[in-house]
Amino acid sequence: MPKNVRRLDQQTRNKNLAGRVYIVTGANSGVGLETTRQIIKQGGHVVMGCRRVDVAQTVANGFAGLAGSHDIIRLDLADLASVREFVAAFLRNYDRLDGLAGNAGMVNMQGDLVLTKDGFEQTIGISYFGHFLLTELLLDILKATPGSRIVLLSSVGHAGSRRSRPRVHLDDLTYKSRSFSNFAAYAEAKVANILYMAELAKRLEDTGVSTASVHPGWARSNFGSGGGLGMRIAMSLMRPLIRFVSNSNEESAQTSLHCLLSDDAPKHSGAYFSQQSVLYRDRECRKGGWPMQSPNPHARDMDTAKKLVNLSYDLVGLNRTR
Ligand SMILES: NC(=O)c1ccc[n+]([C@@H]2O[C@H](COP(=O)([O-])OP(=O)(O)OC[C@H]3O[C@@H](n4cnc5c(N)ncnc54)[C@H](OP(=O)(O)O)[C@@H]3O)[C@@H](O)[C@H]2O)c1
Repeated sequence: MPKNVRRLDQQTRNKNLAGRVYIVTGANSGVGLETTRQIIKQGGHVVMGCRRVDVAQTVANGFAGLAGSHDIIRLDLADLASVREFVAAFLRNYDRLDGLAGNAGMVNMQGDLVLTKDGFEQTIGISYFGHFLLTELLLDILKATPGSRIVLLSSVGHAGSRRSRPRVHLDDLTYKSRSFSNFAAYAEAKVANILYMAELAKRLEDTGVSTASVHPGWARSNFGSGGGLGMRIAMSLMRPLIRFVSNSNEESAQTSLHCLLSDDAPKHSGAYFSQQSVLYRDRECRKGGWPMQSPNPHARDMDTAKKLVNLSYDLVGLNRTR
């Protein structure tokens, strides 16, 4: 299939973002780094929420000469205390937040079940629960900033196939009575992210804050790089072919940037936006869409979305009436 990469329109690419403040999690690598770079190019200020601050400092040297600015605050999404510390540090220093990009994510390439110190399965703990607490703690400042946006990264992996559609197992999030599979856990986390953005859009109606979930494309990033020797050899053999069908990190940042910056995206608050991607098992989805309907009915199940969000308040220790 020829690549037909979706890109920001000229008007969005030329917007002057001076005075605007954004948070990008996982900003030191791949999609998050290119999302950050483009916002800074357009004059915006990005707070990079990064687990490895030294790596963030090194990559940020590459922003020299760009119109905007950046700051780095440590954030480990696998640790709810770290999320709270990040938010406290942000609120001490900033009085507006125009966009929050919950970009960080991982797949557990070691393959065994790992729990975070707060007791979540690691993949969903980082991708969903860490971002859930982060987002909820920042809602007041987002509401106080006109036209602010929340973007949370999902993945084509959430879609599954006609024969097998991933879902969130609300009754057993920590694999007490089912077997663990790393890629199934990744897909489940990414369904949760779509459900959260859809439910949050409903809860934020009339506040001026919009939400979106995103599949960035097949990014040639560091994603999934922690595999064993066999996986590394297979990947290096397939690299020339993968290059042909995958996306650069800059291409993979386009959908997040569209949701953060375009005039159109907020008109579809709560929707799923996707870069083109050969990885969809449902052929008709491969061209992507800004926005598009997820082929997975479990990612459109608003009853589960509501239950997930209500349960999440309890699990991260937040008062539901916030
Ligand atoms: N690559 C793809 O083809 C693809 C496809 C679909 C969706 N996505 C999604 O796109 C997003 C960006 O991925 P990418 O491709 O840019 O991969 P990447 O290069 O591996 O970047 C992932 C980022 O997440 C950060 N991160 C991981 N665990 C974290 C934690 N506990 N706390 C804070 N940050 C953490 C990483 O930090 P460290 O550098 O410290 O590890 C890194 O900055 C992810 O949500 C991923 O699931 C990617």
